[in-house]
Amino acid sequence: MELKGRKIYIETYGCQMNFADSEVITSILKEAGCERCERVEESDYVLINTCAIRDNAEQRIHRRLRDLRAEQQRRRMYVGVLGCMAERLKQRLMVEEENVSFVVGPDGYRRLPEIMTRVAEGTKVAETELSESETYSDIVPVRLDGNGISAYISIMRGCQNFCAYCVVPYTRGRERSRDAESIVNEARGLFEAGYKEVTLLGQNVNSYRWGDVTFAQLMARVAEISPELRVRFATSHPKDLSDELLATMARYGNICKCIHLPLQSGSSRMLKLMNRRYTAEWYMDRIEAIRRYMPDCSITTDVIAGFCGEEEEDHKATLEMFRRVGYDYAYMFKFSMRPDTYAEKHLRDDVPDEVKGRRLEEIIKLQGEIALENNRREVGKTYEVLVEGTSHRSKEQLFGRNSQNKVIVFDRKDAKEGEYVKVRVTDCTAATLIGVLV
Ligand code: 5AD
Ligand code: SF4
Repeated sequence: MELKGRKIYIETYGCQMNFADSEVITSILKEAGCERCERVEESDYVLINTCAIRDNAEQRIHRRLRDLRAEQQRRRMYVGVLGCMAERLKQRLMVEEENVSFVVGPDGYRRLPEIMTRVAEGTKVAETELSESETYSDIVPVRLDGNGISAYISIMRGCQNFCAYCVVPYTRGRERSRDAESIVNEARGLFEAGYKEVTLLGQNVNSYRWGDVTFAQLMARVAEISPELRVRFATSHPKDLSDELLATMARYGNICKCIHLPLQSGSSRMLKLMNRRYTAEWYMDRIEAIRRYMPDCSITTDVIAGFCGEEEEDHKATLEMFRRVGYDYAYMFKFSMRPDTYAEKHLRDDVPDEVKGRRLEEIIKLQGEIALENNRREVGKTYEVLVEGTSHRSKEQLFGRNSQNKVIVFDRKDAKEGEYVKVRVTDCTAATLIGVLV
C-alpha cells in the first residue's frame, strides 16, 4: 500500500509549539505524497496532535476520539494520536481507545510515512522514543490556516526545568537547540514570501544556545533580516531572563515590546515547592529590569491557582504580585495533578477543588480590572499596527496588533491586510483597543 494520494486531516490542540509541529508533520507527509484535506469526512487518516498539560486537555481529546468512531463505523479511516498525550500514554492509549491505530510522540514524526503505511497493512504502531538531537531543522514547515502574515518558527525543543507540576519534560524530552543558520534562513524565506511577523518558539527560549550563539544574538540576526519583519518570541523562564536579551530587544525597533514571563505563583514558598528556582523578589527584579530597558513593554503571564499546599496567604501574595506588575494579559489555570511529575510523587493535591476554583475566580476578576485599567491608559496614544484581517464584528473594520501584542480594531478606509498602518487609540474594552487610522 502506498501513501501517495492519501488524504490526511490534522487537528491540533495545546500550545503554539504543537501548532508549529503540525506544520512540520504536514510537510513530512506531503513529501511522502499525502494530500491535506479540510474535513474528516474526506480523509483516509485523521491525525490528532494532542496536549497533556492538564487533565481537562486530555479529557477533551478522549471525547474527540470517541466522536470519530461514528465516521470509522461507516468506512475505513485510520486515526493516529500524536504529540504530548501520545508520549505520555504510549501504547496504553491504543488499549483505552480501540479506534486509534497509531501513536507517535513529538520526536517520531519523521517515521510517520512508514508507520502510516504499516497501519494500512493492518498493524498498530506506537513510536514514542524521545530523542536528544531531533529538531526537524531541515524540514520546511507547510504553513497551515495561516494568514500569510504571521508565522511560528520552532527554535528549540524539549524542556528540562522539571517544574514540580509539569508533564512537559516527560512528554517532550531533553532540551535541544536548533541550528541558528536554519532558523535565520527559515525567517528570511518567510519574509521573502511576504510574511511580516515571525514568533520564535521554545519552552524556554532564554536557554537557547547553538555553538556561541545565544538567544539574544539569534534574535538580533533575525531582526536584521529587515526592519519590516516583526520578531516575537515565547516562552521565557524568569530565572533565565538576561539583561543581554532586554538590551537587544530595546535596540531593535522591529523586536516586539512584549514579554511573556510566567509567574506561576507570587509566593516564594510556593515557588520553591514548584521548583521554579526563583523567588518573588527575583521575579520583581526582572520586571523592574524590563521596565528600565523598555518602559513601553507589555508583560503577560501564566499562573496556577491551588498548587499543593497553597495557603490563603500564598494566594494573597499572587494577587498582590498581579497588582504590582499590572499584567496586560494572563493565562490563568486551576492546578491539575499530572501523573509521574514530582508533585504527584512527593506532594499532596490538598487544596479542595472549590477553593482552587474560588482562588482562580479572584485572580481572573482582578486581572480583568487590571487589563481594563492598562487599556484605558492607551487611549490617546498612536501605534504602528500590522493589519491582520477583517474584524469578526464588522466587515467595515480591520484588526491588527501593535508591538505590545495588543489587538486594535479600526475602520478599514483604504488600509489592507499585511500592511503597517498608524492607528490612534480612541476607546477600549478589557480585551481590545479601538482606534482610528491617522
Ligand atoms: N496544572 C495547571 N496548570 C499547569 N500548567 C502547567 N502544568 C500545569 C498543571 N499541572 C500551566 C503553567 C504553564 C502553562 C503552559 O500551563 O502555568 O506555564
Ligand atoms: Fe504544549 Fe505542554 Fe501541551 Fe505539550 S503538554 S502541547 S508542550 S502545552
